[in-house]
Amino acid sequence: MSKNVIYCFSGTGNSLFVAKRLANKLGDCDIYPITEQAGASLAGKEKIGLVFPTYFGGLPAIVDGFLKKSEWQQVKNAYVFCIVTAGGNAAKTVRSCELALKAQGVKLNYGKTVYLPTNYILWHNVPGNREQFYQKAEVKLDEIVKAISEQKQNQTLPGIFLFDLVYNHYINQKADRYFKVGDSCNGCATCVRVCPVNNIRITKHKPEYLGHCQQCLACLHYCPNQAIEAKGSKGRPRITHPHISVKEISDFHHKKEGE
Ligand SMILES: Cc1cc2nc3c(=O)[nH]c(=O)nc-3n(C[C@H](O)[C@H](O)[C@H](O)COP(=O)(O)O)c2cc1C
Ligand code: SF4
Ligand code: SF4
Repeated sequence: MSKNVIYCFSGTGNSLFVAKRLANKLGDCDIYPITEQAGASLAGKEKIGLVFPTYFGGLPAIVDGFLKKSEWQQVKNAYVFCIVTAGGNAAKTVRSCELALKAQGVKLNYGKTVYLPTNYILWHNVPGNREQFYQKAEVKLDEIVKAISEQKQNQTLPGIFLFDLVYNHYINQKADRYFKVGDSCNGCATCVRVCPVNNIRITKHKPEYLGHCQQCLACLHYCPNQAIEAKGSKGRPRITHPHISVKEISDFHHKKEGE
């Protein structure tokens, strides 16, 4: 059993890449996926990390659910940190994480946002200057590792009200209702493998969505034939973290605590 643990939610690999980098540099650290069942490894750890993307300036619904789990009541003296990945504006995500933990009696000691090229191609284009994002993120990750190793504390800022409206409107939408699978689909099932919540099955050689989508967009971006479209995605390039393959992200989603 490692003395440190990171829980991570990741659709297109940005957050998994960050979690891996942190775990590697901190040492003696397991990484487990944030799922509805996760949380068994929280008790007795020295450092507990949370790494996940911002969704509409706040917590992905699955992360919100994870932070409300009763297992957090067992966390007493751990140093707790949260690293959010975002494409342009994480608004009050770290703050929301802090408040959710506070409701459980747990202090968030340190929180930061790392900016990486956005995967939200429903509203934005993939940026052209991707290399710059990756380079800047490396520098920031070094600073973050140093701060966490030294158990630094920082203060979070209250977010902007406007983002609450956007967040409340979109966070629980059933995004998979809007996904359309085109003729270029060859039934390869990559989308099934990369879905973090088993929301896709292959029926008659095509993906069928099961209605509990977390809107992570992994299926759209990892599909080798760009066969899946959502409102606004047509004609936009796909993007996943360059160092996180289909195999790695799907193995990660199926990793069980203790493995
Ligand atoms: C549903 C959804 C909502 C998003 N909302 C925001 C946002 O409000 N602000 C932002 O900067 N990026 C936003 N993004 C972009 C992601 O936070 C960013 O690309 C993140 O690094 C993806 O992490 P992942 O690759 O680990 O899934 C959003 C992405 C998705 C899928
Ligand atoms: S990943 Fe793409 S091509 Fe493969 S089954 Fe899914 S939609 Fe079809
Ligand atoms: S169905 Fe697609 S967008 Fe929804 S959770 Fe699964 S991989 Fe993510």
